[in-house]
Amino acid sequence: MTAETLTLAASGGTATPAGLDPSSPLAVRGLTVSYGEKPALFSVDATFPAGAMSAIVGPNGAGKSTFLKAALGLIPAVSGEVRIFGAPLAASRDRIAYVPQRASIDWDFPTTVIDVVLMGRYRKLGLLRRVSKAERATALDALARVGMEGFAERQIGQLSGGQQQRVFLARALAQEADLYLLDEPFAGVDAATEKAIIEVLKSLKEQGKSVIAVHHDLSTVAAYFDHVFLVNVRAMGEGPVARAFTPEALAQTYGGRLAATQLAELALTTG
Ligand SMILES: Nc1ncnc2c1ncn2[C@@H]1O[C@H](COP(=O)(O)OP(=O)(O)OP(=O)(O)O)[C@@H](O)[C@H]1O
Ligand SMILES: [Mg+2]
Repeated sequence: MTAETLTLAASGGTATPAGLDPSSPLAVRGLTVSYGEKPALFSVDATFPAGAMSAIVGPNGAGKSTFLKAALGLIPAVSGEVRIFGAPLAASRDRIAYVPQRASIDWDFPTTVIDVVLMGRYRKLGLLRRVSKAERATALDALARVGMEGFAERQIGQLSGGQQQRVFLARALAQEADLYLLDEPFAGVDAATEKAIIEVLKSLKEQGKSVIAVHHDLSTVAAYFDHVFLVNVRAMGEGPVARAFTPEALAQTYGGRLAATQLAELALTTG
């Protein structure tokens, strides 16, 4: 019996255990993840709203990437429940697209930009099926949406960091998912690329998709996102940005690592 069936059995066989909102694209309860003795996440509850842009905010080492990886089943959880639109992960993988943190990707693998985007289709295509003209067109369309249509045949390793980030967003777009999980999509990109990426994410939201992104730039949280989840090993707060993204909550999340002047500035941008 797998851990998942065990969990289902423990919860009486229902798809959505008590306290987990079935309409949420991602809801977790009591999520604890540990790489060693000290947990990276401890008993975290979080519920993200559907059809919205949500930010995951917290200091370096807070467990933000770990949260996404555990939600995707890429690393095992010690305990906890994860539901994707009310269903267990195994039943929902096709509905999720994931763009990992850039530093975690091996950019030297020999493959072209168009092939990287087509990888986003493999779950739908099956690995061994030949790529049809329509699939190629979908991939090229995704590249065009991120302004990378001229780079299809380029080796991925020969692109700049910001261009690589755009290509991975194109791969996620080609997946035609309902939930987009992005780990620091704006890290190391210039202002023009940041604007291009945020426009793409906003268009996803307009199509009713749910977007959840780890985000480091506290000064743009209020402008970009509807909902925020604050984390530092433990869940430190969540809710609509206007209500949950307060200087008090930030001070608690960052544990004194933000200067009073920074907090005052943020109060101005959110107020
Ligand atoms: N593979 C791993 N093995 C051991 N410890 C790990 C591993 N990955 C992460 N950690 C540890 O778990 C904690 C959370 O890491 P995580 O990458 O989730 O943080 P983060 O919030 O994404 O940080 P950042 O803002 O720097 O990306 C950190 O203390 C980190 O050192
Ligand atoms: Mg991270």
